[in-house]
Amino acid sequence: MSTQTDDRALLRSLGIQKPIIQAPMAGVTTPALAAAVSNAGALGSLGVAAMNAENARKAIHQTRELTAKPFNINVFCHRPATADAAVERAWLEWLAPVFEQYGATPPQTLSEIYTSFVVDKSMQAMLLEEKPAVVSFHFGLPPDAVIAELKHAGMRLLASATNLDEAAAAVEAGVDAIVAQGIEAGGHRGVFDTTTRDDRLGTFALTRLLASEFDVPVIAAGGIMDGAGIAAALALGAQAAQLGTAFVACPETAIDEGYRSALLGDAARHTAFTAAISGRLARSIVNRFTTLGEDPKAPRTPSYPITYDAGKALNAAAKAKGEFGYGAQWAGQAAALARALPAAELVAQLERETRERIERLQSVWG
Ligand SMILES: Cc1cc2nc3c(=O)[nH]c(=O)nc-3n(C[C@H](O)[C@H](O)[C@H](O)COP(=O)(O)O)c2cc1C
Repeated sequence: MSTQTDDRALLRSLGIQKPIIQAPMAGVTTPALAAAVSNAGALGSLGVAAMNAENARKAIHQTRELTAKPFNINVFCHRPATADAAVERAWLEWLAPVFEQYGATPPQTLSEIYTSFVVDKSMQAMLLEEKPAVVSFHFGLPPDAVIAELKHAGMRLLASATNLDEAAAAVEAGVDAIVAQGIEAGGHRGVFDTTTRDDRLGTFALTRLLASEFDVPVIAAGGIMDGAGIAAALALGAQAAQLGTAFVACPETAIDEGYRSALLGDAARHTAFTAAISGRLARSIVNRFTTLGEDPKAPRTPSYPITYDAGKALNAAAKAKGEFGYGAQWAGQAAALARALPAAELVAQLERETRERIERLQSVWG
């Protein structure tokens, strides 16, 4: 049982004023977004998982030019990909007719388009040099020695967990807080080992379980779009909420017009998990790619992120012909509540809504 008594410990340790963390979103977040969020008193994040160390360093420098406040750098700790030429060939053959519809041919071969942080020595060295205030892990944890070095250099560490066992491993490894990622969450589901059973816990149950079990602060993530959601997360015992989808439509992100109009239109009322885009389960707005992945004749996807190489090529081919439905339009279950506000305004609005919701509850129940 948790002995946690200080509900503001996390905010103090991260150097932020508001219990709001803008989720790191590889390919979506930008220095402008992270800086705007941090300048507004919440925690901005940059997802650098798909970058090499040099580009990640540049993104950190660009962010530092825009803010003196703390921000979070997020890396992926998945098991490195296992290449399998036969599986990859079968996957490309299956996608070939779809490429053809857009006047394109699939790539001849596929590659592991980015390296897991677990084995990425240059990314590890870069972080030790740059020392961002906060570093967060998704899909697992780096080796103990790397965690020890990052901590020794003064960085605060966060790790996502989808169940009690993953959270226990993160706590044991010495992270400062756990991101409780519920099944509602947009983007990749952060399970550590994709071969084990997944109980698909919702944010509500997971947050409560982790807050009751562990002394380290818990950050709730998944399906939280507004102040009512943040207030609910705090009531469950989380010390902050991490919001991804809520920030996707901010003008500071790097999304294309197809993703933006899907998120702000009726399409956002339907999300689904698919592994067809990247090779790992991720929640997206239902689009042509998620529908394709539901075909019972679909062959096994190549290892993550090798599948993503094909997915990105197909999206580029379709986009060249004006079709946006093959994009990785990651979004959580409450995507239909998305708002297209500048990030600083969104943070201010979220804070106002959270306070209003808490006051309303106090006036009824206090
Ligand atoms: C577009 C998008 C990209 C994401 N990319 C990452 C990422 O790079 N790293 C990460 O740890 N989580 C990533 N996530 C998951 C978020 O950290 C978080 O779990 C999720 O956004 C919470 O659910 P919500 O989208 O309903 O707010 C992503 C989510 C979205 C929507």
